Amino acid sequence: MCGIIGYVGYQNATPILVDGLRRLEYRGYDSAGVAIISADGKTHIHRAVGKLRNLDTVLREHPLTGSLGIGHTRWATHGRPTEENAHPHTIDGVTIVHNGILENYLELRHMLEARDRQFRSETDTEIMAHLIAEQIAKGHALDEAVRSILPQVRGTYALVVISESHPNTIVTAKNASPIVLGLGDNENFVASDIPACLEYTRSFVFLEDGQMAILRPKDISITDFEGNQQIVEPTTVTWSPIMAEKGGHKHFMHKEIYEQPTAVANTILGRVSMEDATIHLDGVNPEHIDPIDRLIITACGTSWHAGLIGKFMLEHIARIPVEVDLASEFRYRDPILDNKTGLLAISQSGETADTLGAVKDAKAAHAVVFGICNVIGSSIARECKNSGGVLYTHAGLEIGVASTKAFVTQLVALFLLAIHFGRKRGTLSITDGQDHLNRLREIPSHIESILAREASLIAIARRYARAKDFLFLGRGPNYPVALEGALKLKEISYIHAEGYAAGEMKHGPIALVDEHVPIVGIATAGPSYQKTISNLEEVRARNGKLIIIASEGDSRIASVADDVFVIPKTTPLLDPLLSVVPLQLLAYHIADAKGTDIDQPRNLAKSVTVE
Ligand code: G6P
Repeated sequence: MCGIIGYVGYQNATPILVDGLRRLEYRGYDSAGVAIISADGKTHIHRAVGKLRNLDTVLREHPLTGSLGIGHTRWATHGRPTEENAHPHTIDGVTIVHNGILENYLELRHMLEARDRQFRSETDTEIMAHLIAEQIAKGHALDEAVRSILPQVRGTYALVVISESHPNTIVTAKNASPIVLGLGDNENFVASDIPACLEYTRSFVFLEDGQMAILRPKDISITDFEGNQQIVEPTTVTWSPIMAEKGGHKHFMHKEIYEQPTAVANTILGRVSMEDATIHLDGVNPEHIDPIDRLIITACGTSWHAGLIGKFMLEHIARIPVEVDLASEFRYRDPILDNKTGLLAISQSGETADTLGAVKDAKAAHAVVFGICNVIGSSIARECKNSGGVLYTHAGLEIGVASTKAFVTQLVALFLLAIHFGRKRGTLSITDGQDHLNRLREIPSHIESILAREASLIAIARRYARAKDFLFLGRGPNYPVALEGALKLKEISYIHAEGYAAGEMKHGPIALVDEHVPIVGIATAGPSYQKTISNLEEVRARNGKLIIIASEGDSRIASVADDVFVIPKTTPLLDPLLSVVPLQLLAYHIADAKGTDIDQPRNLAKSVTVE
């Protein structure tokens, strides 16, 4: 997830671009850069690693002036966060910024290297700069040059391109990553998101996938990728700039809950080969991980909950023995490790001190260490690189302290790993693998359908917002979902909540049950269904109030529950990816009703770098 912006008009572009990048910084801050075509017709570029303020310092010392330019704030995907990898990338007078991931970048890079093209960065983006520059050298106009290369690139992209050959023109193209066009008087804007240019215009056009736009100071022309003119109506936006930074959502957490369908799709993107149900685990070193005969998963917080669910996936699909440990416990219990043991660290930030410490200890004991991380180039990712490697979740920047989309994408990554090991170890047939993968690919649209029914969760949240204690119950893979539901609620609403294995209720927690303690039960279809229902009936017999998450088509559940929320049917191993979503929204709306600081709850931090 990166932020991109472009300006063409009559004002000096630099402060407009920098201001826009500031508003887009929530999309990533590994590096930032701007490129300006100045009055002499030449392109001038400044880039700096780290937050935008570093670029600001460079620009104060070496100002850039010109009325056409583009800018980028990076959340690294391909290539480490270095100055060489920072955007914009320029080749032979063609300069480009990109948000997205090219799937076939290696193939294209090899093709270009065979034509003696020299690369300056490790990014997938530079490939497009070379391809466009080749077309410009053949005499094509900038829009034709961009249009002609698009059939070759596979993946997601929002591109913004300028060229010294056309010093008055910006060309942009969109496939899956967002692009908005801001319409001004004798000036026009292009950006990843509305806030970037909300200071200058309220009139916007949202590009659709498969559309391109050509921007000049006085006009914008929109075509499809074949060059056919598109008629589009501008939208007038009434948002305040502050709200727009959250894309219209009241909190980042809410926005991130809504980003889950896209995040899940991005974790899967380019990794699945359906013909033989194999998984391309880019970043992971199969020669290291494939020989392991035992796995220890270690993590903290929400990532630990993902690990607990991963155990079900890996043991069932790949028949590999899995232990799951809190990183802060693992390190101090003298674990038995050898070179046949895999240590899988799960961490959104890749910086959590205990998880990082566990990785270092396991590495010293000759275990094969590998990671599931969201932040590219983070410490855990770097530590794992020369051993088992790292599988990135590509969930995009997560700002809300309560993790949502990172969790769901960790589950996707674990599922992909389970299929990989299952196919390698011969425990999973091609047909069964294809079936699992087909179900996985349905998850984004299933999550969409849950989000579309948010209103009923708001109503439930309002009914229970005054409760002092909550219990969350589940069995099998839904037991860790109960833990996660309880964690979400306590961290953002400050209500005491406990997650419990439903079968353990009668060994203690049932003593807490009365009409004042709402119980959230997760009772989706599957082998544990009957037993879970019996446990929930026991609660109901003691006057407990029951909110149940059930599978679509469950005709019996309404007679057991006070409130029911149904989720689409999938398989028991994939149920957690869906059943957690109503629990995230329930926690969110209870916290919102209480008026707590949802994105930055008291005493918590997004990344815990102390032990
Ligand atoms: C903190 C965050 C949690 C997160 C945990 C582990 O407690 O508030 O949301 O689950 O750290 O973080 P990691 O980055 O390692 O996944």
